[in-house]
Amino acid sequence: MSQRYLVPFGPKQTPHLFTDVLVIGAGIAGLRAALEAPASLDVLVVTKDSIQQSNSTYAQGGIAGVLSPEDRFENHIEDTLVAGAGLCDRAIVEMVVREAPQQINDLIRFGTNFDEEDGQLALTREGGHSHRRIVHALGDATGHEVMRAIIERSRQAANIILWDRTFTIDLLTHAGRCVGALVTRPQHGQLLIWAKQTILASGGCGMVYRETTNPPVATGDGMAAAYRAGVELRDMEFMQFHPTVLYVAGSSRYLISEAVRGEGAYLRDKHGERFMLADDPRAELAPRDVVAQAIVRCMERTQHPNVYLDLAHLEPARVRQRFPGIDRVCRGFGLDITKDRIPVRPGAHYMVGGVTVDAQGKTTLPGLWAAGEVTSSGLHGANRLASNSLLEGLVFGAQCGRGAAEAASQMPDSFVVPPLANLPSSRVPKEVVPAPALDVADITNSLRSLMVRKMGVVRDRTGLQAAKHDVDFWCRYVLAQQFEDRPGWELQNLLTVARLMIGAALAREESRGVHFRSDFPQRDDQHWQRQVASPALNG
Ligand code: SIN
Repeated sequence: MSQRYLVPFGPKQTPHLFTDVLVIGAGIAGLRAALEAPASLDVLVVTKDSIQQSNSTYAQGGIAGVLSPEDRFENHIEDTLVAGAGLCDRAIVEMVVREAPQQINDLIRFGTNFDEEDGQLALTREGGHSHRRIVHALGDATGHEVMRAIIERSRQAANIILWDRTFTIDLLTHAGRCVGALVTRPQHGQLLIWAKQTILASGGCGMVYRETTNPPVATGDGMAAAYRAGVELRDMEFMQFHPTVLYVAGSSRYLISEAVRGEGAYLRDKHGERFMLADDPRAELAPRDVVAQAIVRCMERTQHPNVYLDLAHLEPARVRQRFPGIDRVCRGFGLDITKDRIPVRPGAHYMVGGVTVDAQGKTTLPGLWAAGEVTSSGLHGANRLASNSLLEGLVFGAQCGRGAAEAASQMPDSFVVPPLANLPSSRVPKEVVPAPALDVADITNSLRSLMVRKMGVVRDRTGLQAAKHDVDFWCRYVLAQQFEDRPGWELQNLLTVARLMIGAALAREESRGVHFRSDFPQRDDQHWQRQVASPALNG
């Protein structure tokens, strides 16, 4: 059973707040959107944890952009299209690539200190890139530095209010439009925020997997709320796995940046062999889907739970200076990255699919815009090129911010609360086990393990059908509950997203980009060179 709103609420008993633009999510896309609004508009940015907790903050590698005289827009466009395996929208790719240098300059204007070499921006390479074109900061902590600058800039803007620890339970809809969101925060409890325009920038859903590079906040809340509000989502089969996630007991699956391979590191199997050379002429610098799938095959061949990254042939001082964060974390586990091989294996990293948006960031629901990982914009196709995600957040964040601000400016202030349809009753149906009897953590862990086993780098119909069976079963009693706190709502959102992902993976009977079906190992352009929208709620 799926319901329109996760909780019952009565507009007469709930406090209200009115704003011009509501931004849900304070990662790079959300804050970039907020910064586009003119000072005359009130912008409220809400995020469920601290302002610093977003996938953007954890980005290591950097931001791709054509900045070197040896590079051309055409090269970046081509590399993005090749990685996207036939599903990118060329017009979107061209728009994003051409805007990249301006967006990087804007970040510098906002105070970001990118790494430099000889007085110029230092540019690195990552898998799938034909040229050095990735700007980075603090060596391997680009997201941290970019977010520091953009948060500071947003805090200085008098028209932007930042609310942390504010969980968005659901989007509010009336007469076929998005009219704001139902949120909850410790100081206020539940609150109805009425917005002339709403921007969804709530990030991804890596937490649906036990092994992920994502922080605990990445539970797909925005995707699930959009789905409940009737917004179209697509491409949900395309979860990108990062090839190299630290595999040491107790390491919480820490990301080892692709830039490590960009600077020359080798991948070796347990016998010390460089196995990528036999798989792809681009070897360690092949796109992520190719490398992740080759690693899985290698682990099966060698019957070993991981492979190894080897930097021992690189200059030690340069390695430490270039990757200070990775050096520190590995040293914490007794590994010297200049000498020791680093045990790694793939982990869920980035959701390519999500809420369908057009070139301006408009969703299929009037009044709702979206940007960043929560979306499917057509930029990434079936596989995202490394370091194109912060870039997408910037370009689409700015687009949405401008579009939403313009639309909000044309709307008069109104402090009338519209009647809302489909509000759930506050009574729990008799057949449903009351919430306290449910062990939310147990179901969450079971779901995350199931997704690794059945919806991982390699899938097939039998495994997907088994996963569908289990997830449908859990959905039957978990989605019917009325929880009162974040872990319960997050579980409902994870289940909703998992169901969409499994359904999409079952439907796409071919292999393309990050979606590898062992029962359909070939790409099938005749039937599948198209994006697939998820079925509507209760559809
Ligand atoms: C990395 O540093 O490998 C991650 C960069 C990205 O996901 O684009």
